[in-house]
Amino acid sequence: MALVTIPDQDERLTDPEAIAAYLKTCGIDYERWRLAHPVAIDAPATDILRAFSREIDELKARGGYVTADVIDVNPETPGLEAMLSKFSREHWHDEDEVRFIISGHGLFHIHPKMSTVVAIEVEAGDLIRVPRGTWHWFNLCADRHIRAIRLFQDMSGWTPLYTDSNVDQRYLPVCFGASHLQPNSDAAY
Ligand SMILES: [Fe+2]
Repeated sequence: MALVTIPDQDERLTDPEAIAAYLKTCGIDYERWRLAHPVAIDAPATDILRAFSREIDELKARGGYVTADVIDVNPETPGLEAMLSKFSREHWHDEDEVRFIISGHGLFHIHPKMSTVVAIEVEAGDLIRVPRGTWHWFNLCADRHIRAIRLFQDMSGWTPLYTDSNVDQRYLPVCFGASHLQPNSDAAY
């Protein structure tokens, strides 16, 4: 389950309904989905996509997404730091950023134009949609691992466009959730 913090207000949300309701006010869609399919979380991407085909089709129908893939990032990923540095600065896309987390953890910071920055720690079972045009940035958590299904309306639209505001530098890229400290936390899924 995601953990949401509002750093400037020293506030933390852990209840899924409260999280979804608050994020809705920021224009972010958040849902919890059960990982109920009989597929190993480290299965090949094609098996993951096949296992979640019903959910993927539902999301495609909802958001006009035409393609899906699996992003897999871990400490052994070649060029990891260079890749991460592209997304850890405040940016937006001309495309929704939709992620359904299969394993691992990640930290989204969202900078709504009309309210304060909110940090969203995601983990397995979390579905998040950051609409096109939303200012945001992303970091990994301490486990340096995330595996997620991504959906695209048009992959060419998913280039980061930078605000160059440096707002991201005011917020620590630190995850507070407890479960990522447990090496086998994903075993339950
Ligand atoms: Fe992004």
